[in-house]
Order: sequence, then C-alpha cells, then structure tokens
Amino acid sequence: MKGIVLSGGSGTRLYPMTRAANKQLLPVYNKPMVYYSLSTLMLAGCRDILLVVNPHDVEAYHRLFGDGRQWGLAISYAIQDRPGGIAECFLLGRTFIGNDRVGLILGDNLFYGDALPALAERGAQASGAVVYAYWVADPEAYGVVEFDASGAAVSIVEKPKEPRSNWAVTGLYFYDSDVCDVAATIPRSARGELEISDVNAHYLKQGRLTVEKLGRGYAWLDTGSPVSLLRAAQFVETVEERQGLQIGCPEEVAWRKGYIDNEGLARLIEPIKQSEYGKYLQRLLTRG
Ligand code: DAU
Repeated sequence: MKGIVLSGGSGTRLYPMTRAANKQLLPVYNKPMVYYSLSTLMLAGCRDILLVVNPHDVEAYHRLFGDGRQWGLAISYAIQDRPGGIAECFLLGRTFIGNDRVGLILGDNLFYGDALPALAERGAQASGAVVYAYWVADPEAYGVVEFDASGAAVSIVEKPKEPRSNWAVTGLYFYDSDVCDVAATIPRSARGELEISDVNAHYLKQGRLTVEKLGRGYAWLDTGSPVSLLRAAQFVETVEERQGLQIGCPEEVAWRKGYIDNEGLARLIEPIKQSEYGKYLQRLLTRG
C-alpha cells in the first residue's frame, strides 16, 4: 500500500503567513500541519510514502522527515514545479505507485475520530476508488457529492455555485493503480488544474467509486483560511489538554503500530526530551 501526501500549493489564502513558509509546515497548535495528514495515512497502513512538495520546500521537508526511517517509514519526495492541481500527483507519482493501491491525503486536512483507523484501513484494502463525504455548512467551497433517494452517489462537482447537497468530499482518497491513467486522460479545468473531482467523477461513471459518509462522530477540519487554522488549533488544544493524548503524532502511531520498538522511540525522545512533545513521548514509554 502506497501513500501520497500533497504538500505543495501556494497557500495564497493564508498570505502573508505563507510568503516565506510552506502552508503545510505552519503549526496547528503544537505540531506542523502535515503531521496530522501523515498520521492519518499511517493509521490506514501506508508505510511507503511520497511527499509532493514545491521546489523551494524540499530542503525543509527533508529536515522534518528525512527518509522516514526513524518512524519505520520509507519517505521519498516528488517536486511539483507549480500547483497544477491535486490529480497531478498521479502523473508525478506514476513510477512510485506502480501496480499498487494508493492512498492520497491533502497535507492541509485534519481528520479526527475514534473509528478513523478502521475506516481508513478498509478504504486502503477496498477495490476501485474510495472517497469520504462530510456534511458541511459551506459546500460550495469543496467538491460536492450528490446522492439519489436510495443513497447512491450520482454526481461529484468541484466547487459548485449551487451545491446539490451539503456533502463535501474530504481530502482523503484511495485508488487502484488505474488512477495514473485516469489522471493522464482528464482535461485541465478552467483554472488550469487537474481536478481530483474529475478523477472521482470518472470512477463514479464507471461504477467503481465508493463514497463513505463520515457521520457526526468525526471531525474533519479545514486549515485553509486564518480563522479555520485558528479553530483547528483550538480543537486540537481542547481535546489534547482534556485527554492528555495527542492528535496527529507520527511517532506515537509508528510505535503503537509496531513500526518502531521501545528503543527506536527512546532514540527519538533523547534530542527533544526538554520539550512538551518529548515529555509526552516519554510518558508513552513509561506508562503505555
Ligand atoms: O479539502 C478538501 C477539498 O480539497 C476537496 O473538497 C476539493 O474537491 C479539492 O479540490 C480540494 O479543494 P481545495 O480548494 O481546498 O484545494 P487546494 O487548492 O486548497 O489544495 C488542497 C491541498 O493540496 C493544499 O494542501 C495544497 C495542496 N496542493 C494543491 C494543488 C492545487 C498541492 O500540493 N498541489 C497543487 O497543485
């Protein structure tokens, strides 16, 4: 199972925060935004991961993740010269994907929910394409799924002016390896991008798309505007402080899934043991 984290884009809606810093490296409360999406892919069972980044951000991502070995992952990098659309990652990642299934997550998406690991694992192992829909108040800002009376998905439209439902398509997707050919055949949209909604609409037309609804027990948070970024940080702070458990902590996921052992975790803690984050990881080792 391969995984792609999309961490490029221009982040113009967060300007000037994103003038010198890549959006997905901005903090959401106590860790870089991209930690949340990477952790979600890891929970789905992806260990072989391609990070799609802007040319000038490769070095920063290398400093953050290296080759992923410290977390029991294999992380490689693909450079996207300019933001040509989400589906472009399948052209950049064709060799990486090969004949395998692939999970894609947008580096600015934050998912939270008790049943998320099981749900994502199921999506990873299913056939065709799997996407997740979430009821939102402002569907026109997203890809939108329309369902018929029987509950079957009938259309997917990117940022419709008149949405047919409140069900937004979230930024977590699973595909078979055919997705590379699909991405190579769809035309560019009016905004000059290869749209992920066009890829999903293609699978839908072929009867090979599963749309799973994420119910009220999940949180799916956007971090695309200053206010949504702040709210996401407040959400994380509220839950983490109440429970004493971290959201989106790749070291913890790696350790709990057995990608690294106690010694591996201890090695990660040593250089950061003075920080709150290091102390949290230390508590995992001593208290489980
Ligand atoms: O968040 C879910 C939504 O994400 C979906 O409902 C939409 O169907 C999908 O098109 C996308 O909409 P956005 O307008 O939010 O996409 P945005 O351009 O903001 O990019 C999302 C992430 O992907 C962001 O972290 C930057 C990254 N990205 C984006 C593009 C277009 C890249 O790395 N490269 C790109 O070329």
